[in-house]
Amino acid sequence: MKPYWLTINTHKDHRGSLSFLEKSNGLPFDVKRIYYLYDVPITHTRGHHSHHELEQVFICLNGSFEISLHDGVVNRTFYLNDPARALFVPKRTWRVLENFAHNTVCLVLASHEYSEEDYIRDFTLFLENKKNDK
Ligand code: TYD
Repeated sequence: MKPYWLTINTHKDHRGSLSFLEKSNGLPFDVKRIYYLYDVPITHTRGHHSHHELEQVFICLNGSFEISLHDGVVNRTFYLNDPARALFVPKRTWRVLENFAHNTVCLVLASHEYSEEDYIRDFTLFLENKKNDK
């Protein structure tokens, strides 16, 4: 699987905007957990890990940031700044989140509950695993 953008259905009128994602309409997995990132200092980066099984959808609710996704061969950087757009991040993808604007809030939908065993936090090990699994 590759990362891809999901367009979130959005209802806009003079009262404002309402965006929604549902399983039957684009959400690629059953959501088992949500978490959100906020108060990230602009000088700091997050992520620097991969997951064995976890799939995620990232939605930037406010502000902006960049996420670089490495599949073991290719690294691509995505810019998130729109709450009506979501980024699907497949399992076995190394991610680095950086360049957070002030007051950025990032919502993450996750396919599994939190498990530290699902993480790979060593980039060299990540690359080795990807090479061996080819
Ligand atoms: P981590 O995933 O390493 O954060 P990031 O990739 O954004 O830098 O998580 C930071 C800490 O929070 C780590 O100790 C694990 C804990 N954590 C939970 O307990 N539950 C969760 O759902 C998440 C995402 C993290």
